[in-house]
Amino acid sequence: MTYTVSSLDKLLTGKSTGSEPGAVWLVGAGPGDVDLLTVKALRLIESAEVVVYDRLVSPEILALAPPEALCIDVGKTPGFHGMKQAQINQLLVDLAATGRQVVRLKGGDPFIFGRGGEEMSWVQQAGIACHIVPGITAAIGCAAATGIPLTHRDMAQSVRFITGHGRDGKPQLDWQSLQDKRQTLVFYMGLTWCQALSQQLIGHGRDADTPVAIVERGTRRDQRVIITRLQQLAECVARQQPQSPSLLIVGEVVKMYRQPPEATQCSFFEMTDAVC
Ligand SMILES: C[S@@+](CC[C@H](N)C(=O)[O-])C[C@H]1O[C@@H](n2cnc3c(N)ncnc32)[C@H](O)[C@@H]1O
Repeated sequence: MTYTVSSLDKLLTGKSTGSEPGAVWLVGAGPGDVDLLTVKALRLIESAEVVVYDRLVSPEILALAPPEALCIDVGKTPGFHGMKQAQINQLLVDLAATGRQVVRLKGGDPFIFGRGGEEMSWVQQAGIACHIVPGITAAIGCAAATGIPLTHRDMAQSVRFITGHGRDGKPQLDWQSLQDKRQTLVFYMGLTWCQALSQQLIGHGRDADTPVAIVERGTRRDQRVIITRLQQLAECVARQQPQSPSLLIVGEVVKMYRQPPEATQCSFFEMTDAVC
């Protein structure tokens, strides 16, 4: 059902006819490829009465909701905030208070850089049940879609998922702990500060020639992969202009990347790859 203020009002003022008490389901929608949804997520979406979703949820996934379901976009684009987080929290509570099962669809996994923890606390504090359905996080989806293993016995014994967005929007990282050559680093939301990122990593001892993969719209039909090196990262981003959502995989394992069809054995991807 197309979202309008009056359709939302109707939902908020009418009580559900269901026998269960209202609840919020924080559901991970994965990185975009509809086939990467969990079975549980699929069941919830297909039977949803109301879906509250983020910008990163792909149209193919939203299309799985029943035509009569009300789908509410509360999406946030980098640099532009749609509905504020406090408003989203309150909307979830208000909808569940009408006795409805509210499907809160979030890109990737709700508990990885998705503010799922904040929404869960808010809902629980209002005395409403909150269930968590995990999703494939972007790092895992992008690794699989590019044939880059995040760990490898010969190259990386650990992996770190990192965001540059601290509470005040600035990266607050222990750079010293990121210098180990045998550790793969995956940066979410790293495009806008990639210059500082590469300078800090090199300044703290990471090899300037460390390979980097920029995975843009990973797992989607229009996925693009750009391969570069740490010291050329900022220049490469300026030239290739990757857009959000993109993530950066930094480490020796990036050498495993092979252009399709060798890497994916799959004609699903129409990759326009570049090596900087
Ligand atoms: C707010 S975070 C949400 C992460 C999400 N909860 C997850 O588990 O993947 C948004 C960032 O995730 C990364 N991201 C999400 N989906 C992606 C995709 N399909 N391809 C590349 N990066 C993606 C990007 O760095 C994007 O800016």
